[in-house]
Amino acid sequence: MSDRQALPSGLQLTALDPTFRDRPHEVLDALREAAPVHDDRALGRVFLTRFADAEAVLANRGLAADPRKATPGTYHHRVYVGAGAAAPFEPSMLQLDDPDHRRLRRLTTQAFNQRTVEAMRPRIRAIAAELLDALPPEDGFDVIAAYAAPLPIIVIAEMLGVDAADMAQFKAWSDDRAQGFNPARTEAQTAALRAAQDGLNGYIARAAAERRERRGSDLISALVAAEEAGEQLTLREIVTTCHLLLVAGNLTTTDLIGNGVHLLLRHPDQLGRLRDRPDLAANAVEEILRHDPPVAQTTRTATQPVTIGGVEVAAGHSLTTSLLAAGRDPERHADPHRFDVTRRDTGHLAFGGGPHFCLGAPLARAEAQIALTLLFERFPALRLDPERPSRRKSLPVFNGWQEVWVRTGAVGPSTD
Ligand code: HEM
Repeated sequence: MSDRQALPSGLQLTALDPTFRDRPHEVLDALREAAPVHDDRALGRVFLTRFADAEAVLANRGLAADPRKATPGTYHHRVYVGAGAAAPFEPSMLQLDDPDHRRLRRLTTQAFNQRTVEAMRPRIRAIAAELLDALPPEDGFDVIAAYAAPLPIIVIAEMLGVDAADMAQFKAWSDDRAQGFNPARTEAQTAALRAAQDGLNGYIARAAAERRERRGSDLISALVAAEEAGEQLTLREIVTTCHLLLVAGNLTTTDLIGNGVHLLLRHPDQLGRLRDRPDLAANAVEEILRHDPPVAQTTRTATQPVTIGGVEVAAGHSLTTSLLAAGRDPERHADPHRFDVTRRDTGHLAFGGGPHFCLGAPLARAEAQIALTLLFERFPALRLDPERPSRRKSLPVFNGWQEVWVRTGAVGPSTD
């Protein structure tokens, strides 16, 4: 393994570090070159930057997503179940292995799948148009706060059948929950995380109880129906599943839309291509996911000694795959740092891979395609505001913009 003295380690490999936050690929390219399987002892994990290694780890069912199988002191254990974790640890399918993972995923997929997402497309379009209609009359707004953040929350809350009046509370809970991935969170952030977890769990449990009395056509009702049909789904599991659906897609889809807006405005030639050929929208979203993925990394635990890229990793140790680095591996992508909406080799790991491949990928793709298309249709002269520079987030695991201020020039006609 690598010489840990000389190589970036620990928090230097997260957006808490200003260099990594603003120029992650300078760090990751150098690391891939020097030590693609990097012994990051500062955080107790092996850190992987090659596409092929990341893909193999994600596909390997012999590795655990459940952090309770990790050795105390390793990254996976420390962040999720060690001292300071958001106790009690209540795993959703994301952090369970088979057979529980398979059972929960199968039941959730019955209600939440490509078909249900396709049926939502007209509503996603309408919600996006309403958000654009509600923009302030003066020229200039923050795309994240006004558009990219509310859209996914409103969509998933509608799918779950949650009251629109509670949206602001959901956004606050969702944001506080994101600290669950932060290995350096403060006591105050841990307290906010626990409060958000309790608040959200209580809310969903009450909603599930209501659905027993009065069934709707929403996702919570579908899970309650599965439980009542004897599908081996406990109330606790309904709560953790809805909790996961409510938070897993919010920040991430916000970041996908925000990263897309920023990339396209920084590459006017690519935006021009997309305007000329709206049929490129789906490919453009895949290229945004490859180039600037919202989830920076995922982690697994070795349940027995395993060899990755020729390096032996001990049982109980953590393996972190850098999805950011995987998308820019020159072994996998020609000219990897070039952003090209017509690129053919867009293949990426932004939604993970293997058994835990993102269940919300069809929804995230639909939302991003619609949001970007509508925004640029509505504002043909959209540009980054030179007086209010965009600011990246400082949140480990996630990769996105905190603020992206834009100027619209003239306000275009309504598209809906
Ligand atoms: C651009 C937006 C999104 C990105 C980049 C993203 C990324 C990911 C990634 C990387 C994983 C795998 C994590 C791992 O292997 O450890 C994952 C899993 C998951 N995602 Fe997403 N996600 C997005 C949107 C959504 C949405 C909109 C939802 C649902 C509303 C969602 C629900 C889930 C669920 C339920 C899992 C767990 C699947 C399992 O464990 O079997 N995601 N996502």
